[in-house]
Amino acid sequence: MRILVIGSGAREHAIVRALDRGGEHELHAAPGNPGIAALATLHAVTATDGDEVAALAREVAADLVVVGPEAPLVAGVADAVRAAGIPCFGPSAEAAALEGSKSFAKEVMAAAAVPTAMAHLCTTETELAEALDAFGAPYVVKDDGLAAGKGVVVTEDRAVALAHGLSCLARRAAAGERPAVVVEEYLDGPEVSLFCLCDGEDLVPLAPAQDFKRALDGDEGPNTGGMGAYSPLPWAPADLVDEVVTRVARPTLEEMRRRGTPFVGVLYCGLALTSRGVRVVEFNARFGDPETQVVLARLATPLAELLLAAATGELGAVGALRWRDEAAVTVVIAAHGYPGTVRAGDEIEGTADAEALAGVHVLHAGTARSSEGALVSSGGRVLSVVGLGADLDAARERAYAGVEAIALRGSHHRTDIAARMPELPDLPLGAGLDDEGAEDDLRPSVLDEGDLR
Ligand code: AMP
Ligand code: GLY
Repeated sequence: MRILVIGSGAREHAIVRALDRGGEHELHAAPGNPGIAALATLHAVTATDGDEVAALAREVAADLVVVGPEAPLVAGVADAVRAAGIPCFGPSAEAAALEGSKSFAKEVMAAAAVPTAMAHLCTTETELAEALDAFGAPYVVKDDGLAAGKGVVVTEDRAVALAHGLSCLARRAAAGERPAVVVEEYLDGPEVSLFCLCDGEDLVPLAPAQDFKRALDGDEGPNTGGMGAYSPLPWAPADLVDEVVTRVARPTLEEMRRRGTPFVGVLYCGLALTSRGVRVVEFNARFGDPETQVVLARLATPLAELLLAAATGELGAVGALRWRDEAAVTVVIAAHGYPGTVRAGDEIEGTADAEALAGVHVLHAGTARSSEGALVSSGGRVLSVVGLGADLDAARERAYAGVEAIALRGSHHRTDIAARMPELPDLPLGAGLDDEGAEDDLRPSVLDEGDLR
């Protein structure tokens, strides 16, 4: 198969690596990165320009286009590729609104009775202040649109919550959009990411993973795009995947189909396992980064067949997935300043040494070649180092041995990825729903639906 992958992060490097399987397919990537260049032919493209991407797909005679990041999806790139008659793994712009608009996602969850945090959509400072006081601390305030993982503030400090809410309203007003910010109930409990491959009607869940969103050890510091991840989750309830498929993914897929906007691609369910049951924290419309780096490292079923089946409505014919009997841990090496203003152009050394270690591979994200051909940093998250091992401890040791082999001036990484397993609340998942008050928990969680789009 000829496959074109759109994007340039470590997620796309992981996808290309999983598609490759020793050269079975002719791979192209746009814009790609220096790591992806070892496996695929790179092409320059404006990833958010549907016409450009469709033209490139035609030029390389792609049998399948895989769109990695959210921005092209929200911009309608998958629609343009499909309109050109080429199978595309990725949702339409309308379906990608599950990620692109927090309020739309809440509306769909309400209609499909999917359990999520109660939320209030605020359009003015007064509404914002009222919503903060209605929920109380810890406060959760979310930009309604895409914000590269940085639009959400979770804080005990009301002033900080208010300031973030006001900045979201101002940002949208300045961009000529309707001012809107979501304030929601705080969800307590460990977080899990579950990716479901969807073909509009059917879905196939992958293995769950856990992401580390905060910049610093011990879950301190600001939210980031993700600083590390691991899979499998030995502590998760055995029925977790079934529960999420039944209560969250299938009803959402069905609701999207009912609306005439079937969802094709990855429905990324970001979940909190609370004492009252599983709750959706967020949906994304694409593979997660860095969770993809560990999930696809463990997948034994050929990825190309799965993504083509999803893109062509054939997922129903796909049998049970096969997984490697290994655990995977990834650690992100971030540039100086990330997630704030990052410094670019620092030389990266030691990636080959890391790759030479048993069970270690290095995925590129914010890397570039200098005019002299040296590998240099060019973004916030620079590399994802992946370790595979017999269990999580072994995988973790290998990932960190890889990180130690790499030198990047001023970089930082977390030292506690997969170091401790979370404790489950007393009444995890469905258990809590049999309690009194369960009806309330199941009720779609929107305070004033009238406000929703
Ligand atoms: P989101 O962009 O919605 O995934 O939010 C980013 C991160 O903020 C999540 O992964 C959580 O760690 C945190 N978060 C978001 N919503 C909530 C919530 N309702 N309660 C607690 N934490 C949250
Ligand atoms: N790892 C979080 C995300 O991809 O949004």
